[in-house]
Amino acid sequence: MRTKVIAGNWKMNTNPEDATELVKKIVSSASVQLAPSLVRVVVCPPYLSLANALIAAGGTSVSIGAQNCHHEEKGAYTGEVSPVVLAGMGLGYVIVGHSERRRYQLESNEIIGRKAARAHECGLTPIICVGETLDEREDDITTDVIGTQIRLITASAGEDVVKASVIAYEPVWAIGTGRAATPLQAQDAHAFIRSELHIFGAQDVSILYGGSVTDENASLLFSCPDIDGALVGGASLNADSFCSIVGVANEAAR
Ligand code: 13P
Repeated sequence: MRTKVIAGNWKMNTNPEDATELVKKIVSSASVQLAPSLVRVVVCPPYLSLANALIAAGGTSVSIGAQNCHHEEKGAYTGEVSPVVLAGMGLGYVIVGHSERRRYQLESNEIIGRKAARAHECGLTPIICVGETLDEREDDITTDVIGTQIRLITASAGEDVVKASVIAYEPVWAIGTGRAATPLQAQDAHAFIRSELHIFGAQDVSILYGGSVTDENASLLFSCPDIDGALVGGASLNADSFCSIVGVANEAAR
């Protein structure tokens, strides 16, 4: 059975004290405490808030993830963060290939694949992001774009790494816009991604939807057969909203 996952991507928000507060609220919520048998809950604070988040989540079922890592373990890479250090701190996950990093840091699919491979080697579960821009959707090349992203990342990371990862489908036009994909649009993309993964036996990988997920639209999204959870941005910064989304996922997983 595929694992259900609700992950919060806090992006460049929260200082260490905020992170302690937010994680404390999340771990004490009834829906999160109910989740472990049904849904895996992950929160991904900024690097400098990771230590506080780990302490606040200590001894609970909530996992902590990073939002990025370097593709090497160590070396002359000024300002970068090693996945081996992240794993050593006690993190379980790392997001790679978020569209904001593709856009602002010009990350290629090849580099994203190398990040996923190194993260996996260090014991982290990569959350690999894919998704099309609005122009690409309007040009009717959504599946070409996502298919190419998956093929290039798989070629770079290796099939076994992708099999051990989580995929997040995040249409760029839905991120931070309040305009989530419709359940039908999301389901179509997820079914396509699953068919691409099926080619090399990775069809049981969890595929999360990301882009303006709220506690209001989560229920319809999670009722789709190929949607295994969500990568939540804005709504993950509010403990009540995030925990409600976990609650909706618990219901859908029953
Ligand atoms: P929003 O939920 O704010 O649209 O962000 C989605 C996202 O980018 C998660 O990685």
